[in-house]
Formats: sequence, structure tokens, C-alpha cells
Amino acid sequence: SPETTVTVGSQTYARDEMTNVTPHILSKVGSNLHNRKYHPLNLLKQRIRDHFYKNYVKPRGNPIFTVVDDLPPVVTIEQCFDSLLTPKDHVSRKPSDTYYVNKDHVLRTHTSAHQSDLIRMGCDQFLVIGDVYRRDTIDKSHYPVFHQCEGVRLFTERELLISKFSEQDMEGLTVFEQGPRIPAKQAPHTQDAVVLLEADLKWTLTRLAHDIFGKDIETQWVDCYFPFTHPSWELEIKYKGEWLEVLGCGVMEQEILNEAGAGNKVGWAFGLGLERWAMKMYDIPDIRLFWSQDSGFLSQFKVDDANTPIKYKPVSVHPQCYNDISFWIPDNYTENDFYDLVRGLGSDMVEQVELIDNFTHPKKGQTSHCYRITYRHMDRAVHQEEANKIHALITEAAINNLAVEVR
Ligand code: PHE
Repeated sequence: SPETTVTVGSQTYARDEMTNVTPHILSKVGSNLHNRKYHPLNLLKQRIRDHFYKNYVKPRGNPIFTVVDDLPPVVTIEQCFDSLLTPKDHVSRKPSDTYYVNKDHVLRTHTSAHQSDLIRMGCDQFLVIGDVYRRDTIDKSHYPVFHQCEGVRLFTERELLISKFSEQDMEGLTVFEQGPRIPAKQAPHTQDAVVLLEADLKWTLTRLAHDIFGKDIETQWVDCYFPFTHPSWELEIKYKGEWLEVLGCGVMEQEILNEAGAGNKVGWAFGLGLERWAMKMYDIPDIRLFWSQDSGFLSQFKVDDANTPIKYKPVSVHPQCYNDISFWIPDNYTENDFYDLVRGLGSDMVEQVELIDNFTHPKKGQTSHCYRITYRHMDRAVHQEEANKIHALITEAAINNLAVEVR
């Protein structure tokens, strides 16, 4: 019954005293904006994926990074926190900050929750993209559901050394030692290992940032702390005159690798928020827009090539209304004739015209088009009656000027 269980997607969990997920938040699970065609988060996901596919390849050209983007967001406390060495009293575990499904399960607060499992499965280089959940207020830059891209790269001693040294110069260098844990390194790592991992990590992420934000972007590195990496850094970019944090990263805690059966390897990890990147990249002013169903927003991202430069243009705050028109087209008809006709009559009251159905009658051989016309003015409300009047004018003009046969 609903009082004793919580259903998330296709799974049902026992409700208990820790349960704090709300129907509103549960309604977002399964939206998978990052996998929705033409969504800006999907375009960004493609850009990041293609960057790694193109720039990191094996000798025969196949990509080294595996991309995982369909892991469900309910994870265990073990996956989300314990496997990542998050202290028992860390704020991220608090029910005030995290959505608990019950005492054993949460909506993941970060994609790092999948690091251990994927390493245990034998993945040495991977990206994880998914929705993450944090209890937060709703404002222009915070929303309780957002999306992250995690990246992990592991190296054997040889793989790490060969990236910078010749066979002879490698002689005598090691990545493991039993030394002290100091701000610069973990106990089992050599200074040399950290220098190489840090250089590779920072080079990889700077290159990604330049690919996504442009070559001219200014970047800087800031030291920081995560329970699962040491040392750790944040990357900041200069955006509209201010330094903005865009990702966290670091040298993976060796204990995590040891526990996951990769004790002979060292590695780095990073995590970035897709919304934050997309807001800078496309000039999207409000994080809530990613959840908009409004075609005035979505239509601006309808590009088949994810590399198409897009700058978002704010749409009207007034509501939309729409009307459809269907007609049989004559032989010499072209779609642009109709678009011009609509622009001429609708002027600034028409926000969008979309061909939503294109059908050829099997016997008659005649083709019918159906267009959806979305009416909205930038600075005043357009009511349905007014839209209907313009729509009637458009219909009449299409019959008279384009010789179409309205259905
Ligand atoms: N999981 C961290 C976060 O959500 C980001 C991160 C990932 C940091 C991997 C370091 C390594 O803030």
C-alpha cells in the first residue's frame, strides 16, 4: 500500500522513518533529460562524449572511454557514501540534504556513486552521465534534480610512466611506496605518481573546457577537499568577469581502488554539473528552463549537429496558444511559401510554425501537410480568440494564394 511502500520507476521499496522523498521529486525520476533528443543537456552530453571518443583512442582508433548513461538513480548508502569513504557525519549524508527512499537507499547525490561498481566490473576508463538529486531551494541556479558527468581514468604503473618517459628514463621510477599522507599525496603514492596523475588530469580537463567553452576561456585551479580524492582540485572559468567553479576532481583514494579489486592501478576522477556547463555554453539564464516543455525554449535546441553554436534567446513570459492547419498541397507547393505567408500575416504574434504531419494518400497520390502554429507575443498576452482570427486569415490566404485544399 502507498503508506508502507515507495515506488520509484519500476521498483518498490519499504517506507521507513528515513523516507523523505516527495511525490514531486519522484515525478522527476525517469525524465532522463540527458537522453532526450534535442534537449540542451543531451547536446552537451554528445559534445563531451564525442570529445573523449575523438581524443582518447587505442592504436587502432577505437575509443578507450566507455560511456554509461542509463543507470537508475536509486542507489544504496554503500554506493553513494560508504564505498567513497564519506565520513559517517558528513553533511552530504544528512536527510536535510539528501533524498532517502528508505534507510538503505537514496536518490544518488552524485554520479560518483557508480565509481566502485564500474571499476569492479573491470572498467578502467569511463564516463557516467545521469540525473542526481539534492534537497535544495529552487532559484535561478539551483534545482533539486540536476545532471552530472563523472569521469574516471585508471593506469597501471607502466601505463602512467610510459605516457611521459622513455623505457630507459622509466628505470627506477615507481608509483607506489609506503610513505606519509601529506597535503600533496596519499600514503601509498609516490610524489612522481601524483605529479603525473595531476598533469594528466588537469591537461584532460583544461582541454575539455576549451573544447566546450572556446579556446579563449580563462581557467584556474583551486585546491579543495573531497572524501574520495586526494589531492583534490576545482576548475574555475572566468564567465562575465567572475570566477565560476565548474567541476571537482582529484587523485582517487587508493583504498577505493583496493576495495574494488584494482589495487595494482592508480587513477583520477572528476565530476561536473551538466546544467552549469550548459547555462554558460548556451546563455541559459535559469536552471528551471531545462524542465520547460515550452516549444519556445525547446525549439531553439532542435539541431541535428550538437556542434551547432546556439545562444539562447529569452522567450516571452506570456502563455502560448496554438492552432493546427491541414491541407492537401498542390504540385508546385514549397513549405517556405507557407512560412512566408504566416510571417506576413501573423508578424510578431507567431512564435513558431512546425510541420507536424506529412502524409501521402496511397490511392490519390495527393500529399497533405499539417502545421502547428504557435501564437505568442513577446510583450503582451495573445488570447485564443485573437489567435483564432489570425488563424482564419492565414487559412483564407493559403487557399487563395497557395491553391491548397484545406481538409
Ligand atoms: N562527486 C563530486 C560532487 O558531486 C564531484 C567529484 C567527482 C569530485 C569525482 C572529485 C572526483 O561534487
